[in-house]
Amino acid sequence: MAKLTIKDVDLSGKRVFVRVDYNVPMAESDEGMTINDDTRIRATIPTLDQLVSQGAKIILAAHLGRPKGKKEPSMSLRPVAQKLSDLLGRPVAFVDDCIGQKVSQTVSALKAGDILLLENVRFYSEEEANDNAFAEQLAANADAYVNDAFGAAHRAHASTSGIAQVVSSRGGPCVAGLLMERELTFLGDELENPESPFVVILGGAKVSDKIAVIDRLLEKADSLLIGGAMAYTFKLAKGLSVGKSLVEPDKVNVAKAAMQKAAERGVELLLPTDNTVVTPVVTDKLNKKGKPILEFQNPRHNTDPDIPETEEGVDIGEKTATTYSEKIAQAKTILWNGPMGIFEDPRFSKGTFAVAEAVANATSQGNAKSIIGGGDSVKALNQSGLGDKVTFMSTGGGASLEFLEGKELPGVAALSDR
Ligand code: 3PG
Repeated sequence: MAKLTIKDVDLSGKRVFVRVDYNVPMAESDEGMTINDDTRIRATIPTLDQLVSQGAKIILAAHLGRPKGKKEPSMSLRPVAQKLSDLLGRPVAFVDDCIGQKVSQTVSALKAGDILLLENVRFYSEEEANDNAFAEQLAANADAYVNDAFGAAHRAHASTSGIAQVVSSRGGPCVAGLLMERELTFLGDELENPESPFVVILGGAKVSDKIAVIDRLLEKADSLLIGGAMAYTFKLAKGLSVGKSLVEPDKVNVAKAAMQKAAERGVELLLPTDNTVVTPVVTDKLNKKGKPILEFQNPRHNTDPDIPETEEGVDIGEKTATTYSEKIAQAKTILWNGPMGIFEDPRFSKGTFAVAEAVANATSQGNAKSIIGGGDSVKALNQSGLGDKVTFMSTGGGASLEFLEGKELPGVAALSDR
């Protein structure tokens, strides 16, 4: 790893400001806001254990949601402090602000190994503006800075970027946490020279979200298996009919260019040859955006590569799932990002779950290294109970994609080089 980590510095007795990504899904219940998925909280425990054993005084900072500079009670991190305390089996103090006197007083009372979680940094608009004075205020009680928030490292905000400049200008160390280190190792170093066959599985709704990732991975992959709605834009580019499937007609040229690059480089690019299709029917119910909700009727297996005019593809078909699983079984390195269909609906989850199973099997039986690039593929693996059967699952969403595109993330750039 090119960056220094908490293993390289002595933080004993130091006040250490640790940026974490506790942007976890929450739901309102009778007991207030409750956490639906604590993966991101658990993922920081190795870093916290290490800092506790070093005798650091730990000040945790994070964002939750997008409150746009306002104090939004439903986006308070207070429930996260309780959850973290339960997971660690030790107290976690909480202050309902992230800067100011109350924070300073609490920090000055911290003893070695104590943990304090600050309130949502995005309750101040200065956070996202990467305001220098705000970064100074965040850094007011810090001797050292640790970034363990890989999921937020693509944001150049005060707590992910500005604060590191303040701390390092005072001679304080700015280093990566252990989660950050793992993310950079698996999504970065491991994929730099992947063991062959390197099989990449890409899904999700849009080609436009993944253009740069596809382009970069075509330099390294042996096979690229495409699923999800983005496959229909590729099918369109091949002159096939896609019916009412989700497509991006303005990205057909991008898909054509990717197929040409794959052919030139000898990368096998596979598209679904069969699909689960439905008849979408407009209902009079409206979604949150005020658009009519579609009902998916008459699901059926379409064995033809063309999709009839009145129907929409919502999952890869059995034959495609088998072909993809066979390719995955031969892989030595696997990268998976994006579901194969609308897996949230059990009727259309088979393709995604088949891929999840194939990836898990290739890892345990074929000794493949499997790296899951965050977001919905992680959700799908967890839902199928296979989350612990892969080599690495990223905690990043947008950050993973930007990193896989080869971009330098501001939150990483701000840390000290080795
Ligand atoms: C995420 O959930 O992907 C990160 O926490 C970043 O959140 P953001 O997209 O609101 O910046």
